[in-house]
Amino acid sequence: MGSSKKKSRTQIVKEILDHQASYHGDDAPKVSDYDYDMLVQQLYAIDKKHGIPIKDTEKVLGVGYQIKKEFREIMHVKPMLSLENVFDTNGLDLFFSRVTDYLKKENVTEEITYTAEVKLDGVALSVRYINGKFISAATRGDGAVGEDVTQNVIGMTGIPDVLNTNDGLIGLKEFEVRGEVVFLKKDFFAFNEQQRKVSAKVFSNSRNAAAGSLRQLDSSKTSSRPLTFFAHGAVDNGNKLKLFAPSHSSFLLEAKKFGFLIPEPRVEGLGTDSIYSFLKKINETRETLPFDIDGVVIKLDSFSQQELLGSTVRAPRYAIAFKFPSQVVKTLVKGIDIQVGRFGTLTPVARLEPADIGGVIVSNATLHNEDELKKKDVRPGDIVEIRRAGDVIPEVIKVVPTESCKKKRGQKFKMPTICPVCSGITERVDGESALRCVNGKECPAQFEQALIHFVSKKAMNIDGLGAKVVKQLIDEKLLVCVSDIFKLNYSSISSLERFGNKSAKKLIDSIDDSRTTSFEKLLFSLGIRHVGLETAKSICKKIERFEDLFSITEERLLEINDVGPIVIKSFLNFFRDSNNQKDVKNLLEEVVFENPYAPSKVIKKNFCTEKSFIFTGVLKKLKRIEAENLVVEHGGRVVTSVTKNTDFCIYGESPGSKLKKANDAMIKVMSEDEFLQKFNE
Ligand code: IVH
Repeated sequence: MGSSKKKSRTQIVKEILDHQASYHGDDAPKVSDYDYDMLVQQLYAIDKKHGIPIKDTEKVLGVGYQIKKEFREIMHVKPMLSLENVFDTNGLDLFFSRVTDYLKKENVTEEITYTAEVKLDGVALSVRYINGKFISAATRGDGAVGEDVTQNVIGMTGIPDVLNTNDGLIGLKEFEVRGEVVFLKKDFFAFNEQQRKVSAKVFSNSRNAAAGSLRQLDSSKTSSRPLTFFAHGAVDNGNKLKLFAPSHSSFLLEAKKFGFLIPEPRVEGLGTDSIYSFLKKINETRETLPFDIDGVVIKLDSFSQQELLGSTVRAPRYAIAFKFPSQVVKTLVKGIDIQVGRFGTLTPVARLEPADIGGVIVSNATLHNEDELKKKDVRPGDIVEIRRAGDVIPEVIKVVPTESCKKKRGQKFKMPTICPVCSGITERVDGESALRCVNGKECPAQFEQALIHFVSKKAMNIDGLGAKVVKQLIDEKLLVCVSDIFKLNYSSISSLERFGNKSAKKLIDSIDDSRTTSFEKLLFSLGIRHVGLETAKSICKKIERFEDLFSITEERLLEINDVGPIVIKSFLNFFRDSNNQKDVKNLLEEVVFENPYAPSKVIKKNFCTEKSFIFTGVLKKLKRIEAENLVVEHGGRVVTSVTKNTDFCIYGESPGSKLKKANDAMIKVMSEDEFLQKFNE
C-alpha cells in the first residue's frame, strides 16, 4: 500500500473491485491477501463513520466475481457465501460476544460450543450428488451462479464418484457438499518444477495454481493436475441435513465416512479458551502442514444455533475467519544476479538484505524471468516485498515505493544479451518468457546442473554426491565429462577438503552401486530436455540395446503415446550431437544393465494390452479408478487427452467433450457396458 495519503471511498471501492477481478477473474492477484484485506477494512471503517449500513458495504464487496463466459453456468441451490475476517484476538472476542448476545436474546440455554479448523487457501467448490452419485460441480462464481466444472473434477482426489453409504443418505436424495480445491504443497512444488522444465507458466503460489488449474476449459488439463478437494460444509436443503448430523463437527465425521477428505487439524465442540490455544498452535506450525492455509475458520458447532444466527448477503453470522499475519516481509535489494539453469535458462534473482520470513532466513528471491522483471521493475537499492509461497523458492512480490527510494533509484535492470557464465549467445525462444544460453554442456553452469541431475535420487541415485560436492569435484578438475564420475577413486577424493577416509569410501561404494542400472534410468539421467522418467520408460520399451537409441528413427518415436514433436526434436538433437554420443558411449563402458529383456510385470493379455484408453463421463458399474486399474492390469494405458494415438474412448453418463473429440478422430468409442462385455469375450 505504501502511500500515506488518505484515499477516497470511491478510490478504495475501485481498487477493491480491480483486485477482485485479478484474484477471482484472472487467478492472478496483484497485491498480497493482507493488502487486500486491509483495503476492505478501510472501506468498513469509512462506511461505519458515515453511517452507511453494513449491508450496503457488503453489497459493494460481493462474494466473488462474475464467471468466465466460456463456461456453462450452474445456479447454486443456496448462495455460496464468503466469510467475515478478523485479524486479532479483539476481533475474535467481538465475534464470540456477538454470538453469545444473539443466542441469549433467542433464549438459548444450551451450551455454546465452537469448531475451529484450518482455512485452506484454495478455490471454493460446490459438489452435487443425487442418490449418492456424483452429478455436477461448480465454482463459487458471483455467489449465485458458478462455473460448471463437472468434467474437470471427475476423479479428483477427495471427490468420490459414489458416496460410501450403505444405508443411503437418510432422506437426502440430493446432497451438496462445499469445500476447497487445493494443491498440496508437495504436488504444487513438483508441478511448478515440471512447468519450469518445459518453460510453461510457473505459478507464484498454490492457490493461484489451484484456481488456474480448476478453471480450465479443456477438462483433460485439470485432470492432469494433482488437485485435492477437502469438504468443509454442506447445503442444508430444508432441515434434512440435521437428520444425520446435528452439528458441524458431526457432519464432518459423516462426510469422512462418505469418502470425503475433511480439514485437519481441527478442534471440535469447544469453548473459547481452547479455540485461542488452537489458533496459537496452528500459527506456530502452519509451515509444517501439507497444504497452504490463510487462517483458521471458527464455526458455531450446533446447526440449530447456526440457523438462529443466519447470514448476511455476504457471509454467515455463525462463522468467522481468523487471518494470520501475512508471511510477507519487506527488505532491501542489494543486487540482481542471473542464474543459469540446467537447460540454459537465465533466471534473474534478487540478492537481498537477509530477512526472516516465518522463521526462515531468506537472502535470495526469484524474479522468475525477463517479463516478470520488466513488469515489476525491480532495481538494486529498492525496498521490496518478498514472500515464501507454497513453493520453497521465495519470490519478490513488488517494489515498495518509498520517498527516498524514488529519488535515488538505481538503473533499470537489463537482462544480459550474453550468458553471464560462459559468454555464450542467448536466445529468446518464441512463445517463452525465458532467455536461454545456447551453449549446452559447454557452458560450465549447465554442465554443473547436468551433473547434479545425473546423480540425483530419481536418476542414478548416487548417495553422498550433493550439489556442493559436485561443484568441488568440478573445481578440482576431477569431473570434466559426465562419465568421469565412474573414474573417481578412493585416492583421488580421500585427500580432498571435507572428505575423510570413511566418507571417501562411502562415496566410492555408492558410485559402484549405481553402476547397475536400467535403460530408462540411464536415459533419464542424461537430462535431455522434455524427457522425464515416464517418457524415458516409454522410449526404452522400443529398444533392445541401449545403443539402439543412437539410430532410432522419428517414425519409431512417433509410435509412442504421449511422445510428441517437441520431445522428439529434443531427443534427436541430443543423440545427433557428436559430443553427447561420445559421452553416452563412455557411460556405456561404465554401467551394467539389469536384465533388460525380463518382462517388468506379469500381465494378463487381452484387448487392453498395449492399447491406450480415455474415460469420460460418470461410470455406473465401476468406480473410475477400478476401470482404470482393469486397463493397466491388462497391460494397457490410461491417458487424459484424446490424441491420434488413443485407441479407445469409454464413456459413462453425461460424457464431456472428449467423446466428441474421440468420435471426430475416428477413435473406437464404447459405453461402459460394452467395455465390460469385452472382458468376457
Ligand atoms: S466455511 C459460507 N471452512 O474461505 C462460507 N470455508 O474466505 C462458509 N475456506 O468461501 C465457509 N477453508 O471457500 C469454511 N475450513 C473452511 C474453509 C473455508 C477455506 C474458504 C471458503 C470460503 C472462503 C472465505
